[in-house]
Amino acid sequence: MRVIQISDLHIPDFESVHPRDFFNKRMTGGLNLLTKRRGAHPPELAERLIEDITNQHVDHVVVTGDITNLSLPGEFQRASRLLRILGGYEHVTVVPGNHDVYTQGAAEQKRFESYFGHLLFGEGEGWEDWTFPAVKRVGDILIIGLSSAIATPPFMAYGRVGEDQLNRLPALLEKHPKGLFRMALVHHNLHRRRSRFAEATAALQDRDAVVARLSMLDVDLVLHGHTHVAHRFSITRGEHTMLVVGSGSSTWNSGNPAHAARYNVYEIVEGQLERIRTRVYDQQRRRFEWMM
Ligand SMILES: [Fe+2]
Ligand SMILES: [Fe+2]
Repeated sequence: MRVIQISDLHIPDFESVHPRDFFNKRMTGGLNLLTKRRGAHPPELAERLIEDITNQHVDHVVVTGDITNLSLPGEFQRASRLLRILGGYEHVTVVPGNHDVYTQGAAEQKRFESYFGHLLFGEGEGWEDWTFPAVKRVGDILIIGLSSAIATPPFMAYGRVGEDQLNRLPALLEKHPKGLFRMALVHHNLHRRRSRFAEATAALQDRDAVVARLSMLDVDLVLHGHTHVAHRFSITRGEHTMLVVGSGSSTWNSGNPAHAARYNVYEIVEGQLERIRTRVYDQQRRRFEWMM
């Protein structure tokens, strides 16, 4: 099976932004952010990304959060129109990032769940009843969708998964056959960053507990976003190795080769991860190409 990971799309929607959106105190950082992000994550790049993914004909696409910038309804609408091109529950899985619960209002209204919850939980229940984690089977892969997204004070971007989600996980996994490839999705990075500022303001607060629990549950691969820069590490416990991969942002319009928009393609054969390939955006040619 081939699975694509995209992340940190930060899809803007300038048309729907109204000055009243910024009267909210939570939005003080918002206007600044929106101006800064206008050039960094242009909507055209997101459109090229979706087109390029469509041409890869893979089995599934996972999105590891920060789909929007300020959790505005217009941004969710635009993002959901784009992701719909890739398919429904069978073909796409999305977890939220800190930008998808940017305001208390967005968190309380479960705005993320109302747009993307059906891709995690199926069409059965109403989004008011959906609770993380989500566990869904796609072919021979078991996808675990965790939420690390919480509404934070302005200029903060930290996250937390919490004991409740971790405690619910074993029973949810038991409903599925053993031996399926276990792939967990969480927005925040699981490694320590060099920047002390990033560690103080934007880290996953219960990182150690999350890593320990996922490794104990024999998760094979953990995919994350948040840092916008690609990163990998692995943890071995007895005979089992868990690989943790941050894809970087898939829409960052950067001339720096280390930051340029990218996405990963994971090839999983008979329960084993065989290969990871990366497609990177070439600013000059205005298209994605395989990383050599
Ligand atoms: Fe992000
Ligand atoms: Fe983030």
